[in-house]
Amino acid sequence: MIEHLQLRIREVIQETSDSKTFIFENKDLNYQAGQFLTFLIPSGISTIRRAYSFCTAPQVDEFPAVTVKRVANGAGSRYILDNWKTGDLVECIKATGKFTLSKEDVNELVLFAAGSGIVPILAIIKQALHDHNIKKIHLFYSNRSENATIFKDEITKLEANHKEKLIVTWFFSNSFNISKARINAEFVDSYFKNQVKSNITHVHVFACGPESYMYLAEVRCLFAGIPKDNYHQEVFFREESSSLKPNSYKKGDFDILIEREGKSYSFQIPGNRTILSQAIKNNIPIPWSCSSGRCSACMVKLKQGDIYMSRNEVLTESDLQKGYILTCTGYPVSGPLILQSKS
Ligand code: FES
Repeated sequence: MIEHLQLRIREVIQETSDSKTFIFENKDLNYQAGQFLTFLIPSGISTIRRAYSFCTAPQVDEFPAVTVKRVANGAGSRYILDNWKTGDLVECIKATGKFTLSKEDVNELVLFAAGSGIVPILAIIKQALHDHNIKKIHLFYSNRSENATIFKDEITKLEANHKEKLIVTWFFSNSFNISKARINAEFVDSYFKNQVKSNITHVHVFACGPESYMYLAEVRCLFAGIPKDNYHQEVFFREESSSLKPNSYKKGDFDILIEREGKSYSFQIPGNRTILSQAIKNNIPIPWSCSSGRCSACMVKLKQGDIYMSRNEVLTESDLQKGYILTCTGYPVSGPLILQSKS
């Protein structure tokens, strides 16, 4: 069984007209800044899963908290924002995610956030200022307007308290000054050239926002010389699973064995099914969240066999070299397959 956690809501904070922070009583929750929780949310007669990032850092904030922004037609955010209240007990899967600082990320950070993309980025800022002997943190933060900006006051205060280290560039798309309305390629290129002082190979970038925004961030960072493994991104949105299927499948069935927490699970998988969907069908307890190759919750190590991933937005080159794969977009190519699932 995948362990489900019960969290008690301690406090609810209205951040903007369409976003709230939910602070939980559970002081001893195990998580890292930048990670997320996957909540199990009732929807009709079934349950849906939605991932929401921590806005807190464990060594800085006494209680863990996530911030949720309303998404148009989003069943998960609508349910949470309309129903969750102080005292409620909510269910989730333990914290996961690779959008985290490692010990060597200490030199200089460049952070891109748009809208609710600030949630894990704020946690990373707090952690970096607390734990690391960091030289500089550059934050680019884009929003529709000042009123729609989540954590405007908190970030302004952090900047004032850490003048030497934290530099924030705000963008508001309702600004009449075009250079302050939207982040653009010229701005980012010139910023990297003139403001980022460390050797570029020691600069790490974290980006969280909509797809087109992330595309701009990634391309300009590569152009600036940021090594691929130093570029970290987080995207959460769902797509139709049909768009994730590869053009052709391997015919036939493959033997698969999944090792998890000291137990082994064997089953067969047809070439046209993802490993995750077949594992769920067989009641095998492996973790997942986005089901679209974007969050890493379903990451496992491939010890034998060969697979094809129809989408991978999260594993880096070095993860792939170590043998990690995503089960939610992974189709069998040759077997037998042996996978090791992290606990
Ligand atoms: S469940 Fe999110 S990447 Fe597989």
